[in-house]
Amino acid sequence: MELVIKKDAGEGALSAAAVLARLVSQKPECVLGLATGGTPVPVYRELVRRHQEEGLDFSRVTSFNLDEYLGLGPEHPQSYAAYMREHLFDKVPVRAAHLPDGLARDVPGFCAEYEDRIRRSGGIDLQLLGLGSDGHIGFNEPGSSLASRTRIKTLTERTRKDNARYFGSPGEVPKHVLTMGVGTIMDSRHCLLLAFGEKKAKAVAEAFEGPVSHMVPASALQWHPQLTVILDEAAASHLTRADYYRWVYDRKPDWQRWE
Ligand code: PGA
Repeated sequence: MELVIKKDAGEGALSAAAVLARLVSQKPECVLGLATGGTPVPVYRELVRRHQEEGLDFSRVTSFNLDEYLGLGPEHPQSYAAYMREHLFDKVPVRAAHLPDGLARDVPGFCAEYEDRIRRSGGIDLQLLGLGSDGHIGFNEPGSSLASRTRIKTLTERTRKDNARYFGSPGEVPKHVLTMGVGTIMDSRHCLLLAFGEKKAKAVAEAFEGPVSHMVPASALQWHPQLTVILDEAAASHLTRADYYRWVYDRKPDWQRWE
């Protein structure tokens, strides 16, 4: 696990975009796992800029999104399908973009098929992740099985409150979602988790310096063979070994650097 502490969210997002851009340049047919929410917005902005100004080519990339609200179709403005079009796909065409279907009638059947699609694509090379203030990844809320696969989940009241800013009030946030499982996420070859702001500091410390527990689903990533965590100073503020992570990062050999 590598923890990278940047001055602020802006620098953290540029660093994350550099990780993604390096992979897309080195492996144009890569499979990306994508995330939504507030955190990745500046990452996508930088990828759009690199595409438009530097010709970074995504035309052979396949993507799979982590999650979607159940009951929202792709035309619903709060759907993650709409989010992805707005922030990335309308400006950066990819070969194939997959999202869970919020209108799936046969939910278990759809989820099994989504898992199958990921497998048939060759598996996810790089999975971008945000972190819930309750320690969730994707929409795997506390108590999720650490071996879980894509399935329906019920959001916690806390997550519905956190996401109310997009809907108007917590009551309007859907109660159910489809999400890749923790096990699905763990199968990706590289996980890149971003967390910015004081609101995430407790979850960051619990996930990466606390015990592995399904009460903090992100803590399962401690078992991941290639995990990069990019934080800003505020999100890192509860870590006990922050100085060590900075020391390590400053002494990385050049061949390990991506920026
Ligand atoms: P946020 O959400 O990026 O909007 O803070 C993160 C998450 O819930 O995974």
